[in-house]
This record gives sequence, C-alpha cells and structure tokens, in this order.
Amino acid sequence: MPRSDLLLSLVKAGSKGDGPGFRRSLEALVADERGRQHHVVAKQLEQYLAPGAPAAAATTRPISPTPEALVDEIHPERSLADLVLPPEVQQVCSEIVEEQHRSELLRSHGLEPRHAVLLLGPPGNGKTSLAEAIGGELAVPLLRVRYDAVVGSFLGETASRLGRVFDHARTRQCVLFFDEFDAVGKERGDEHETGEIKRVVNSLLMQIDSLPSYVVVVAASNHPELLDRAVWRRFQVRAQLPPPGPAEVARWIQRFEERSGLKLHLGDKSLEAHLHGVSYAELEEFCLDIHRRVVLAGADAKARSIARTVLKQWSSRAAARE
Ligand SMILES: Nc1ncnc2c1ncn2[C@@H]1O[C@H](COP(=O)(O)OP(=O)(O)O)[C@@H](O)[C@H]1O
Ligand SMILES: [Mg+2]
Repeated sequence: MPRSDLLLSLVKAGSKGDGPGFRRSLEALVADERGRQHHVVAKQLEQYLAPGAPAAAATTRPISPTPEALVDEIHPERSLADLVLPPEVQQVCSEIVEEQHRSELLRSHGLEPRHAVLLLGPPGNGKTSLAEAIGGELAVPLLRVRYDAVVGSFLGETASRLGRVFDHARTRQCVLFFDEFDAVGKERGDEHETGEIKRVVNSLLMQIDSLPSYVVVVAASNHPELLDRAVWRRFQVRAQLPPPGPAEVARWIQRFEERSGLKLHLGDKSLEAHLHGVSYAELEEFCLDIHRRVVLAGADAKARSIARTVLKQWSSRAAARE
C-alpha cells in the first residue's frame, strides 16, 4: 500500500492542476513502491511519467547515449567519520543525513528534507570524498555526471542530455554529483558566453529546482568565483572544505597511526614546520610513503627514522611549492 502522505500530495497536485507538483509526487511514489520491491506497480505508475504523459516536461529525448553512459555510478563505502571536517560542516552533513532518513516525519508536517549541497575549497581537501560519504551514510548510489559524455557538439544537445541525467537520477534515491561544477555553472556574464551556454545553465538550474527531495544533489567547485549567483541560491547548504591546519594534520597523523599500528613519533612542531600548507590528499600520500618504506624495510621498529627521512623529503617539496 503506498504511503498516505505521498498519495495525498499526489491527489492535491492533481486536483489543483499543478503539473510539476503532480510529477514530483508521482516520482516519489514510484521510488517508494520500488523501495518496497513493488516493481510491477512502480512500472505501471512510471508510464504516467513518460513523455506525452500529462505533466511531463517538454524535453526532447535523442536516442543515444543511454543515461547510464552519462553518469558513473559509484556505490560509496565512505562514512562521515572517515573524514576530518570542520565542525560546522560535520554538523550540517549529519543534519542532512538525518533529514533524509526521517523524511516521512518531516513530510507529515508539510516539510521537505534539504537536498542541495554546494562544496567549495581547493583540490584534495575532501569535496569528492564528502559527496561519497553522504551517499555512504544514506546507503544510496552516487551518480557522478560525466561532462565528457554530457557535453554535445550540436545545438541543444547538452541541455537535452542533462535532462536525461536528471530523469535517470529521479527514478530512485541517490546522490547526484556534479564535480567541478564551475565547468557548467559558470557566471553567465562570462565574456565568452554564448546563447547555448546560457540555455544549458538555465535548464540545469531549473532541473535542480524541480528535483524531488529524495535526490540529494551535491556540486563541488574549486572556483567559487566562477559560479553564477543564481547557482548559489539553489543550494540550501554551502560548505567550505579548507586545507588542514596544524591541529587537523596532527589528528590525521594520529588516525593513520591507529589504522596502521605504526608509531611515527613526529612532534607537532616538526610536522607544522615541514608539512605546512599541504592538502589532505598530500597528507595521505605522505603517510602512504612512510607505510610503503616501513613495509619494505620489514621492521616496524624503523618507523620512526623512516618517518623522519620522508618528512625531510616532503619538506623540500613544500619549499618548492612556495
Ligand atoms: N577532509 C578530509 N579528511 C580525510 N581525508 C581527506 C579529506 N580530504 C581529502 N582527503 C583524502 O584525500 C583524497 C583526495 O580528496 P578528494 O575528496 O578527492 O578531494 P577534492 O575532491 O576536494 O579534490 C581522498 O581520497 C581522501 O582520502
Ligand atoms: Mg574532487
């Protein structure tokens, strides 16, 4: 039996002639039935979402490529606890996960869970990992949009492929991930702008607006200055992921020591002096360098001196970067 709140919102939208609302409710109902393994009913309901059905959006649908070719489907295994995050980011992400998990309660009060997250920050500090961790916490797949497949060379092709990505995403609970979002969400006042780019961005924003709230859309960018103001508005949550400061470096090293069982004995001062300005990705690489050397040396007892040697090598790397 379908959930009464979904049925109610469907009937409400239908009786008011609210096309987009009807479509959203119907999509939620299809996803719900599918979640209950009622595949036959889900298929029957889904027919009313097909093009030509009353409330269907007026997108054109070229035959190729298939929606599966437009996204990479990832089944995330990360959790929020695997990442070192600023407390406010940790907090807001846990809230989103809770709102998604308890969406029935929210809906029974006429509320929707938040489901649009913009992640900003320099490379290697956890944007992609956090998108995965949100998927992992929700136990849903992560669909990463493949721009190489989405961007077409013919007029109108890109917008219509994007449309298909969204249609594909809304068939079930998932995280829809736009990495390097500035590639598509560029400021529309760009001097190289063309009508086509404008159209793509507009249709993208409209698609994000009409996504049902069980699809969590996460966009990541290293270049927030390139993002259109209209893009910013769409995202209920905007989180900054900065590089690690001295405390985070120490925390990360401590976690590595716990995971690997190695004791590096690197004092906070020398870590700060030698690893100043590294990203989390580099920090991970640094620890892997040590781990490899220790394994090959065949003696955990040497971890301390190996760690020092590797730290010196990294120190010159850091100097080269500055
Ligand atoms: N905040 C973080 N906490 C723990 N590990 C991190 C963090 N940020 C990045 N990493 C590690 O660095 C690697 C690269 O990070 P990634 O998420 O791809 O960064 P971005 O998408 O911002 O470029 C990841 O595999 C992850 O293990
Ligand atoms: Mg990334």
